[in-house]
Amino acid sequence: MRRVITYGTFDLLHYGHINLLRRAKQQGDYLIVALSTDEFNWDMKGKRCYFSYSERRQLLEAIRYVDLVVPEKNWEQKRSDVHQYHVDVFVIGDDWEGKFDFLEEEGCEVLYLSRTPEVSTTRIKRDLTEGAK
Ligand code: CTP
Repeated sequence: MRRVITYGTFDLLHYGHINLLRRAKQQGDYLIVALSTDEFNWDMKGKRCYFSYSERRQLLEAIRYVDLVVPEKNWEQKRSDVHQYHVDVFVIGDDWEGKFDFLEEEGCEVLYLSRTPEVSTTRIKRDLTEGAK
């Protein structure tokens, strides 16, 4: 069983997220999503989520590619998550290119997947605010 992990906020779930999750699952047999908690988003990433952690988790759990959702509470947990969840492959979008190469030291593969162009949670919020769509 090849186990894959990915990290993110996944607020206002959109087709860019689904594309990422589908391709992440294709890297193995079991996909774990480490979902940023509301506190981590606010304190560390400066993001205020529209949907709460529990709402975002429910959405992710309804996706066929996702096998397990766990909380992402800090930047440091990635090293220990690799061991705790027996991770073979770490996957994330290429907006993070090179940032998590250090996880190879923990014995897992690190992959950056190309982002889906022209969609992001930030853009959706902005477009709705500006009445652009
Ligand atoms: N992602 C992607 N393509 C997009 C948007 C996101 O592949 N168009 C990927 C990111 O690279 C990341 C995961 O989806 O691996 C979760 O990203 P997240 O930051 O939660 O989504 P964004 O839409 O980028 O949110 P924001 O605008 O708040 O940064």
